[in-house]
Parts: sequence; C-alpha cells; structure tokens
Amino acid sequence: MSAHTGPANTGPAHIGTGTTGKEHSGPSRRQAAEVPRPDQESVALNPVFARPGETTELPRFRLPRQESLPETAYQIVHDEAMLDGNARLNLATFVGTWMDDDANRLYLEAADKNMIDKDEYPRTAEIETRCARMLADLWHAPDPQRCPGTSTIGSSEACMLAGLALKRRWTHARRAAGRSSDRPNLVMSSAVQVCWEKFCNYWDVEMRQVPVSADLKVLDGHRLDEYIDDHTIGVVAIMGVTYTGMYEPVAEISAALDAIQESTGLDVRIHVDGASGAMIAPLPPAGSGVGLPGGPGGVDQHLRPQVRAGLPGPGMGGLARQPVPAR
Ligand SMILES: Cc1ncc(COP(=O)(O)O)c(C=O)c1O
Repeated sequence: MSAHTGPANTGPAHIGTGTTGKEHSGPSRRQAAEVPRPDQESVALNPVFARPGETTELPRFRLPRQESLPETAYQIVHDEAMLDGNARLNLATFVGTWMDDDANRLYLEAADKNMIDKDEYPRTAEIETRCARMLADLWHAPDPQRCPGTSTIGSSEACMLAGLALKRRWTHARRAAGRSSDRPNLVMSSAVQVCWEKFCNYWDVEMRQVPVSADLKVLDGHRLDEYIDDHTIGVVAIMGVTYTGMYEPVAEISAALDAIQESTGLDVRIHVDGASGAMIAPLPPAGSGVGLPGGPGGVDQHLRPQVRAGLPGPGMGGLARQPVPAR
C-alpha cells in the first residue's frame, strides 16, 4: 500500500473490477455486473470510508490501481480479520483470553524477527532455549539442562513435531529389530483437536480413536489394550480437552501402558497435548497429593512426556522433551 499522497487520492470513486466492469475487455459492462467472475470480485467498503476522493471499492484478488490512505487499508484488513474468533470471548482451551500490555509489547517487538533463523537472531534463540529448560524443569525432567526443546508457531505445530518424534523413535526401533516400519498408528480419544487428524493425514499414520461418551468423557486407559499393537507409535493425552476443558488422567494412561508393556513387551510412549494445562498441571496445590504421576514434585520415570505448553497468547507454543533413557 502506498503512503498517503494527498491529492493522488482524488481518483475515480470505483477502482474495483467487480460490478463496475472497468478493467476487463471480455463481457460487456452489463454482463459483468450480472455475473461477476471470481477474479473480479471486489471488497465493498463501509460508507465510513466514503470521504471525497476516497475509493469505495477495491479488487479482492489484485493490487488496486490506485493508492489508498494507509488508515483505510488498515481498517479494511482490520474489519475483515475481526470476523475471526475473539480471544476474550473464547471458552475453548486453546488460547489465553488475555495478555498484559508488557507481554503484548514483547510480541510486537519480535514481529520483525524470523525466529527460524537462529544465526540471525542469536539472542532470541538463547531466550528460547532458556524457556524450553524452564518448561522441562517445571515438568521435573531429570536433567532440564540437557533437555531438547523448541518454540513453535502454535499448538498445532508442536503436535506435529511431537507426533513426528514418536514416529521416528518407533521407526528406528523397528528397523533396529529388523522389522517392518510400515502402517504406524497413533491412539487418542475421539475428542482430540483437528490438528491430530492433520498429523495422521500428513505423515501416513493411522488414527485410532477411543470413543468418548457421556459415561466415558476422557481417555483414561480403560480398555487401552484393545487399541495398542506393535505398530502403535504413541498415545496422546490431552490437558484439557478442547470441548470440555477436562484433563485426561495421564497417570492412569501411563499405568495402563505399564500393564500392557508387562504383558506384551510393547514400549509405548505418551505425548501430553498440554493445550491449557501444561503450565498449570505440574503445579498441584501444596499438600494436595495430586498432580503428575509420582505425586507432586516428581514425574513417574516411566512417563517421559513430550509437553506442549499453552496459555500464553495465541500463535505461541513450546515443546520440551525429557531425555529418554532405555526402559
Ligand atoms: C487440545 C488442543 N490441541 C491442539 C490445538 C491446536 O492449537 P493451535 O490453534 O494453537 O494450533 C488446540 C486448539 O484448539 C487444542 O484445543
């Protein structure tokens, strides 16, 4: 968008190609007005922009011929984006509903950095590493300083990376044992967020869903053995479930997997999709005796979660993993 250049904005009242038919040579103006082609659609502007000289229509899919006032361009995009969800009204689990001004300032200050380029932005990369270690420490990883972790653009990306880590670990183990690594599957409740469906689609993993119902609202390890076999790359546990906010009892799922391992030898790991709970669940009220497997202050050594942390503003996630010793 060009900067406002005053008089230059005194162009024609319509620059869109839609129903105005100004910019195509095919059908007559009248035909175009009756049946606009998709590429001729234009964005109708609210009358609030109808100041003298200001355009009242902009093409939807092409750069406009004329320049616009910067504040008009801003308002058009702002108004359209407003139709997306409003975090303050959000009762689902996936975003914080409010961030304080200082956090918002930090977000804005990072907007001109490309976080994937760690060489260009070493200081930000260093802060990222420290955050991953804090998360590992929060989840009582045995050695947080050696714990690999990364920031992600949101929870979906964190779930993709976690799923890939599970798949890779399983594939390596199968190859080392001289066995086939095709037809992997991932077990989860039927109330998972759609990003898990995407993961299974993108990386050719069979999605095995344990149905939730009014009686069985979360995946809790019950009859888990019916879904697990030697092609299972992992089990997803959610804290909390998108639709209800409920925590899936990771300790019970872990205990069920231990029992399966005892009877079958299968070593299946858990990914904790910590949508809204990853920063809260590890901090049970003092003396409550509840919390992570092993009680407050200790993760069960059999659990080894990969944790995706929610709660900060949207578009932010993290993934930390405990170093995984052989069982
Ligand atoms: C449980 C759970 N996992 C993952 C996601 C994906 O999160 P994002 O929108 O940050 O990619 C969501 C979002 O609703 C969720 O509720």
